[in-house]
Amino acid sequence: MSNYHIKNLEEYFQVYRRSVRNPENFWEEIAEEHFLWRKKWNTVLSWDFTKPEVKWFEGAQLNITENCIDRHLVTRGEKTAILFEPNNPNEAAEHITYRDLYKRVNKLANVLKAKGIKKGDRVCIYLPMIPELAVSLLACARIGAIHSVVFAGFSSTALATRINDAECKMVITSDGSYRGSKMIDLKGIVDEALEECPCVENVLVVKRINSEINVVQGRDQWLQPLLDEASDECEAEIMNAEDPLFILYTSGSTGKPKGMLHTTAGYMVYTAYTFKNVFQYRENDVYWCTADIGWITGHSYIVYGPLANGATTVMFEGVPSYPDYSRFWQIVEKHKVNQFYTAPTAIRALAKEGLSHVESSDLSSLKILGTVGEPINEEAWHWYDDNIGKRKSPIVDTWWQTETGGIMITPIPFSTPTKPTYATLPFPGIQPALMDAEGSEIKGNQVEGRLCVKFPWPSMARTIWGNHERYRNTYFSTFENKYFTGDGALRDEVGYYRITGRVDDVIIVSGHNLGTAPIEDAINEHPAVAESAIVGFPHDIKGNALYGYVILKDTGESRNHENLRKEINQIITEQVGPIAKLDRIQFTQGLPKTRSGKIMRRILRKIASNDISNLGDTSTLLNPEVVQGIIDEVLV
Ligand code: PRX
Repeated sequence: MSNYHIKNLEEYFQVYRRSVRNPENFWEEIAEEHFLWRKKWNTVLSWDFTKPEVKWFEGAQLNITENCIDRHLVTRGEKTAILFEPNNPNEAAEHITYRDLYKRVNKLANVLKAKGIKKGDRVCIYLPMIPELAVSLLACARIGAIHSVVFAGFSSTALATRINDAECKMVITSDGSYRGSKMIDLKGIVDEALEECPCVENVLVVKRINSEINVVQGRDQWLQPLLDEASDECEAEIMNAEDPLFILYTSGSTGKPKGMLHTTAGYMVYTAYTFKNVFQYRENDVYWCTADIGWITGHSYIVYGPLANGATTVMFEGVPSYPDYSRFWQIVEKHKVNQFYTAPTAIRALAKEGLSHVESSDLSSLKILGTVGEPINEEAWHWYDDNIGKRKSPIVDTWWQTETGGIMITPIPFSTPTKPTYATLPFPGIQPALMDAEGSEIKGNQVEGRLCVKFPWPSMARTIWGNHERYRNTYFSTFENKYFTGDGALRDEVGYYRITGRVDDVIIVSGHNLGTAPIEDAINEHPAVAESAIVGFPHDIKGNALYGYVILKDTGESRNHENLRKEINQIITEQVGPIAKLDRIQFTQGLPKTRSGKIMRRILRKIASNDISNLGDTSTLLNPEVVQGIIDEVLV
């Protein structure tokens, strides 16, 4: 098990140095020892960031589900693979063993095949956090179909865009979902989306809330009767190392969402290796990541990483506030959770509700705490450390992205001394660089710049589905021969990294990446709106909230601004989803623009954040006079 489990800081540095000195050897050793291959590779790595083209383990053959399920059956057949905790605390938790999982995945894989799904076909999965969601990912992977999971909080328009972009042949959904005290009509949303999606031939529907659904004959079927008839043995499709595993959409600063494409072998090796080390997973631990599988965190660290290690991974259907704010901690006590991985926005929301919700639960099983998705502020970090970890459980502040597939900068628990708000040190194999505005690397410590990565790692996305040029342009054209993350970061006096936030127009709200373009497009659909711009501003719980500047068409009539605000948020909810609703809407006469017509969001951000003392040079604007107008409107 050489280097598979890093145990102290000295060992981390040794492993890190080796991983950088000879990356091919390093990853080859890990791949060799810890996975099941149908055929070994001819070449560990070939790469060229100018194209960009990156290939890991070329020539190798495997199936990721044999690594996540089959190979565990001998020693872990009766071990719980997925521990499902339902929304309703009075509904029994479900312990799905590796053997159960094997059968469920194979049955669904056979159903997919019977419906004509073949290797390379795209299947859209639009499901709540129920076991069928994880099973669906794995069933696709079993037969080589490419899954495209769409978070079940997205609207029908957002769903349709993603289905059409990937040209999915099938949608797997449910009659509905439970979220706290609410029920959501998922099948209704799918029906609406599919009016715009001619590529979809079949819809499989999981029964979850027992609601009446509309059945389109020849297209829609309940899943359970099909599973009942299906065999629980399905031979795994033999995949090439670089065959696609999944597409997952993420917001860009402009244009439609980007379908990040991840491939098989490198993704498996990296997510498994990071999971083992970042969470120091031991055989009988119970691990819980509270993310939704609709995001990359769920793909990599609820499903693939944990299962590749034969771990027990908790899947929680509900929300932290239902039936009350003690729910997370009750689940920790109930299932004796050892590793707990969540988002700063959840920590802030729970901290606000007070300690009584925490103190009623026994949290002594916890060994390691994690955060992901956005910068964690110092106050939230200490609250988490003091009250949840009781200052004995290290906090791993893990920085990474949909595009990176796995954790990139993170402490290794019990090895790397933690520092509040710092993601600390690069994971073995990761070579970060900070760049200045002129495109030169900033060496040394106590510096700040744009965060790039200089060398490929196994789980990086290989392209944007259907648009390789956009992939090159977005990530590899800003800095020569480097992957540009879109984030800013600083490096302190000992070389620890702190992520300072996005340097582009992506806004992270409650840990969700939102691009400005689709939200502005939605606002502009309102018949009274002429133009709009949105920016982020600091928010106590969400990290950032959205602030919209809206110019109304001049119709000569007076309008009720309160009603307009409601209507605008309604359109956003329908077109993008409720997570993109605006907290504040300012109706304004003009937007500051550069001479080339680009909106100067930097100025709008400052005004939204109430930071108008230093707006910088506005004299180069096309219309500098509008700035004072916008400020005056706020003061009214
Ligand atoms: O800005 C960074 C922020 O989230 C972005 C990636 O978002 P997404 O692709 O949705 O993936 C989130 C889950 C991996 C990054 O570009 N981010 C993520 N983790 C951190 C973070 N910012 C600061 N600290 C983190 N730990």
